[in-house]
Amino acid sequence: MCGIVGYLGEGNSKEILLHGLKELEYRGYDSAGIAILEGDNFSSFKAVGKLVNLEEKTKDFQTKGFSVGIGHTRWATHGKPTELNAHPHLGESSYVVHNGIIENYAELKEELLAEGVNFLSQTDTEVIVHLFEKNLKAGLQPFKAFEKTVQTLDGAYAILLITKGEEETIFFAKNGSPMLVGITQDSNEKFFASSDTPLIGYATEVNYFEDGDYGYVNKEGIVIFNEEGVKKEPSFKTLSQNKLSAQKDGYRFFMEKEIYEQTNVISDTLLGRLHDEEVVFDELPSDLFDGINEIKLCACGTSYHSALSASYLFERYARVKTSVEVASELRYRDPILTTDTLFVAISQSGETADTLETLKMAKEAGLKTLVICNVDNSSMVRLADASILTRAGVEKGVASTKAFATQVTVFWMLSLYLSQKKQTLSNEELKRQICLLREVPAAVVVTDELHEKMKRLSKRYLHGHGFFFIGRDIFFPLALEGALKLKEISYLHAEGYPSGEMKHGPIALADPELFTIALLPEHMLYDKAKSNVEELSARDATICAISPLPFDKADDYIATKKQKDYMLEFFEMMVVVQLLSLEVSIRLGNDVDMPRNLAKSVTVE
Ligand code: G6P
Repeated sequence: MCGIVGYLGEGNSKEILLHGLKELEYRGYDSAGIAILEGDNFSSFKAVGKLVNLEEKTKDFQTKGFSVGIGHTRWATHGKPTELNAHPHLGESSYVVHNGIIENYAELKEELLAEGVNFLSQTDTEVIVHLFEKNLKAGLQPFKAFEKTVQTLDGAYAILLITKGEEETIFFAKNGSPMLVGITQDSNEKFFASSDTPLIGYATEVNYFEDGDYGYVNKEGIVIFNEEGVKKEPSFKTLSQNKLSAQKDGYRFFMEKEIYEQTNVISDTLLGRLHDEEVVFDELPSDLFDGINEIKLCACGTSYHSALSASYLFERYARVKTSVEVASELRYRDPILTTDTLFVAISQSGETADTLETLKMAKEAGLKTLVICNVDNSSMVRLADASILTRAGVEKGVASTKAFATQVTVFWMLSLYLSQKKQTLSNEELKRQICLLREVPAAVVVTDELHEKMKRLSKRYLHGHGFFFIGRDIFFPLALEGALKLKEISYLHAEGYPSGEMKHGPIALADPELFTIALLPEHMLYDKAKSNVEELSARDATICAISPLPFDKADDYIATKKQKDYMLEFFEMMVVVQLLSLEVSIRLGNDVDMPRNLAKSVTVE
């Protein structure tokens, strides 16, 4: 999704902005640009495609002294990914970058066109800069003109604007899309970005803007107003400088590194939360579940699959009625939300627009809210009544792996935590479950043997007319997630299906070119799932069985370890399907970390 950076100071603006954009690459983009104002001299560069194209265009450009600059990576929403549609957008003497969607842009554009304003792009963003300049022409001071512009906009936005006549100022506004500003103690520099990473190594303290915030920065400081127009003080927090996990450490792709990291990050997720006979979440208010009869989980993408997995655990272990919703559906279907329901939003980023909006809906309806999230201080964490951090570290691969693993780990723990409150499991069983949880980090270790096997096997799965990942019970959401991973990075058609449903339609597709990836755990409905696979095998579908038990009807067989429990089998099989997608994608020559058309953080609906 779009990313924003900004810089004010004596430093090398171009390098700082390009560095920032590079750090935001993981969000997904299809064009990029920067604009720098030095004295009353504007320089602006835009390029379609990867950042190297922008670097090439700017290679002969340097600033000499003080300057203000803004930059943007664009993920096309309104208008194709062309250079004209790339940000920053120019008026007559100002440039703007914007992340989000201006919902009333069509009306605003119509009015401006009627007044003779010339538009160069198809974007919603361009109205911002023209409105600002219209207000300037009407005689308002630049900041007042900016304030009036912001008040006219509906929708979600993070905006940075620079203009001639105010050469030492960057104007900003934030509503619904993430943005922060960073400073250091020993300079007047100011750094803006959509997330922490671009500021690591530059700023030491950061202020996260809240919805409705707008204002300006200059050499002297930062001036912020809230949505009522009341001046407020920035609230600075120390920015962690740990960049270690933001590098590839010798792996070919971030996704590969992140698959290998799962053993460590799951250990972090468990840390301090497992006692001998009890699961503890110090961060949860003790009365969070009081008066709760139902849990509603809501998310998008991979997080939705972890939510589906959670529903099996919550009902099985805590005996609490659980429903799962896709956020973009829940938003507009006029749902019944009752106050005896705990609303749980799940999000790696904490910024996904649809999930964030459902959280707001739930809050407005008076529900208690909980967020399971990987990013502290993200919009969802700040909004919810309570939050549990998954502690997966920065996830850079667009295809989510370790975030999913830690989400399911949290849900497993949470189902036990809830079972303690509701006394639905015996002490003995609770203790057994806690022991099993401690074994998850070992279950997800990637052995050389397994990785080599997946590398060899992947060459047999580069063609055909589709994949079905099938499983029963909680292995059905895992099948969905396996299929999603494969389609995200290999661009091959893949579907996840409950094993028992294949005979109700999809089996009609069975032939040797239909690849079935069958999840056959020993400890969850093995015989039933096995007969479903036999039905497919009898119809000549090509079967790849993942199981600890040898299966003679399989064309390919990936042996998993003998485990004590189906949940350990779940985690081990999760690694297998992740590696399968990774190796297929690498063989196909795809960009594993930044697959086409996808964005890491989807901050528009
Ligand atoms: C995008 C990403 C997915 C992610 C989904 C939800 O589509 O490409 O990997 O699962 O958003 O993101 P969230 O940050 O809310 O978990």
